[in-house]
Amino acid sequence: MSLTPAIDTIEIPHSAGHCPVILGRDLLTQPQHWAHTLTGAVLVVTEQTVAEHHLKPLMDALGNRANTDVLVLPPGESTKNIAAWSSVLDRLVSMGAMRDATVIALGGGVIGDLAGFAAASYMRGIAVIQMPTTLLAQVDAAIGGKTAINHPQGKNLIGAFHAPRAVVSDLATLDTLSDRHYRAGLAEVIKYGAIGDIAFFEWLESRTQPLSQRDPETLQTAIRQSVINKKTVVVEDERETGRRAHLNFGHTFGHALEALTEYGSLEHGEAVAIGMVLAARLSSELGLLHQDQAQRLSTLIEALGLPTEAPAGYGAQKIIERMRLDKKNKDNTIHLVLLDDLGHAVIRPTSEAEITQAF
Ligand SMILES: NC(=O)c1ccc[n+]([C@@H]2O[C@H](COP(=O)([O-])OP(=O)(O)OC[C@H]3O[C@@H](n4cnc5c(N)ncnc54)[C@H](O)[C@@H]3O)[C@@H](O)[C@H]2O)c1
Repeated sequence: MSLTPAIDTIEIPHSAGHCPVILGRDLLTQPQHWAHTLTGAVLVVTEQTVAEHHLKPLMDALGNRANTDVLVLPPGESTKNIAAWSSVLDRLVSMGAMRDATVIALGGGVIGDLAGFAAASYMRGIAVIQMPTTLLAQVDAAIGGKTAINHPQGKNLIGAFHAPRAVVSDLATLDTLSDRHYRAGLAEVIKYGAIGDIAFFEWLESRTQPLSQRDPETLQTAIRQSVINKKTVVVEDERETGRRAHLNFGHTFGHALEALTEYGSLEHGEAVAIGMVLAARLSSELGLLHQDQAQRLSTLIEALGLPTEAPAGYGAQKIIERMRLDKKNKDNTIHLVLLDDLGHAVIRPTSEAEITQAF
């Protein structure tokens, strides 16, 4: 018999207070767990796909609360733009929202980043409640207070640090998530184990079957442990001046692949999965990591249905050229997050000649 997991709350302290991350199934329809966090006018920002499945239960839960409005945007990364950000601000103005207003971000990382940035900028900052509906957003994007929109010249170029007042992660919303988006989120889950939590990594190795089947208890444990891991890193380094960069493990290779494939054929999590395999292989070529450990990471990624090889036609040269443009490069050296043990990340300036060894 499988027991329905209880509701968990993880408190994340930050410079301006603390943020409860409330985790559990069917939370949207249980406002007793989160309605007390709402103040003033409430604007729900969401997108069409999410709205189809999950907006009605949320609106029912909000009941006939005064001055509540909804803005439904088109789905997809292209919505994280200046015009959509501006449309959120326009709606707040037309509602007469004051400094006590609350934005609810109901959706994946796109809506979380966009609505979070609108909340950060409206009247120099109003409250945002993140209600993430993708696995990636529940384990990563909604946690830690980074918000952003894209500029035509680059992803996430405009943004702010703005911690949410609360994060409400309803695991039941993941039931409608496509298999591909679900697996893409698992890449970030694996990352937490690889960079800082060997016990979690081993637990994931032993749970590939129930994770693939979205077993509720296994999934809740995986999300809880991921949030705890992200909390550990962001509490130490809220403004990304040091250790938070470890979260970019697999991302420098991954971003290069996403950009080369024009954000089309690869999901972010898939690109990160390939990037982690390349970074681990490079760590092993540089003598930092035992080859068996790099292989274990690759095996876990594959077992969870994620790709381990760059698509045909995207070899070392193309990827390195693209990596040169990465905004995290310093002094023309590529600073890569590598592993010196499974469960332990290090940052190392790496020459282009060395990087070719990953391929
Ligand atoms: N702020 C941060 O710290 C941070 C961290 C990681 C990623 N991000 C950002 O997050 C974004 C990616 O997030 P994402 O992968 O959640 O993308 P997303 O928000 O585009 O969602 C992915 C897809 O799933 C659909 N979807 C969302 N919830 C659903 C549900 N419950 N049922 C069915 N379909 C659903 C969406 O319509 C979309 O097609 C990127 O813009 C990235 O830059 C931010």
